[in-house]
Amino acid sequence: MEDNVFDIIADLYDITSPLKEDISFWLNMAEEYGDPILELGCGTGRILIPLAEKGYNVVGLDISKSMLNILKSKVDNLPNRVREKIEIVRGDFREFKIDREFSIVFSAYSTLYSATTQEEQLSTIRNAYKHLKEHGVLITAQFNPDIKRIAENARFMTLDFSYQDPNGELIITRTSQTQYYPIEQTLKSIQVYDLKEQRKPLERYNIELNLRYIYPSEMRLMLAHCNFEIVDEFGDYNLSPLKDKSPNMIFVARKRQS
Ligand SMILES: C[S@@+](CC[C@H](N)C(=O)[O-])C[C@H]1O[C@@H](n2cnc3c(N)ncnc32)[C@H](O)[C@@H]1O
Repeated sequence: MEDNVFDIIADLYDITSPLKEDISFWLNMAEEYGDPILELGCGTGRILIPLAEKGYNVVGLDISKSMLNILKSKVDNLPNRVREKIEIVRGDFREFKIDREFSIVFSAYSTLYSATTQEEQLSTIRNAYKHLKEHGVLITAQFNPDIKRIAENARFMTLDFSYQDPNGELIITRTSQTQYYPIEQTLKSIQVYDLKEQRKPLERYNIELNLRYIYPSEMRLMLAHCNFEIVDEFGDYNLSPLKDKSPNMIFVARKRQS
C-alpha cells in the first residue's frame, strides 16, 4: 500500500491537529445511532479512542502505517475493557472490504476530501453503503468550501501556527500556501513544518496535501446517487443548520434498501 502524506507527519499530527470541538458531536452520534461503528481514516485515534472509552465497539480503518502505529501504541496502553472495544484495520477506504456490517460508518475532519476525484469519493460512499446494516447511517463531516478563499487563492506562504512545548525545548511552526483549482474542485496545500529542538539542527518536512472539496448540493446528489436518504445536515458541531457561511458541512444519511 502506497505511503501518503500522513506517513511523513504522523509524529507531529497529535501536536499540530488539536481539534477537540467535534469529539462530543461524535459521542452524541454514537448514542443516537449505536454501534458497531466504523471510522474511515481514523488516523491516530483522536475520535476512535474516546468512542471506545464510552463503551462503543469501533473499527478504525486507515491507509497510513505510521498513523496506525501511533494509534496501536496508544491502544496498548489502554485498560483492557477499552482495548477490547477497538479493532484496527489497514486499508484504503476507496476499496476496502471488512466482513461485518455497522450501525454507523463515518469520516471526520474532512477526511472524505482525501479521495481526490469525484469517482473516488463516490466509490468511498458506495463502500460505506455496503458496510452498513439495514437503516444504518453514514456521517461525514468536512469543511464547507469558502468561495471567497477559493476566488482569492493564496499568493504567499503564510504562517499557520507556531507551537512551543511547555518546557520550551521544542518549537514547531507550519507555513503553507494553498492553491485552488475550481474546475476540478481540488486544492493543493504546500506545507512546510519546521522543528527546532534545543541543541539540535533545524528539521524541515515538506508535504503536499491534495484534497477535493465538495459543495453541499453535490454532496446531496452523491448521497442520493448511492442510495442514501439524508436525515440531517449541520453547519457546525453544535448542530446549527447548514448555511452559506457555515464553517463545516456535516451530513447524516440513512441507508435505503437496495
Ligand atoms: C485529516 S486525517 C484525520 C484523522 C482522524 N480521523 C482525526 O479526525 O483526527 C485523515 C486520515 O485519513 C487517512 N486517509 C487518507 N486517505 C485514505 C484512504 N484512501 N484510505 C484510508 N485512509 C486514508 C490518512 O492517513 C489520515 O490518517
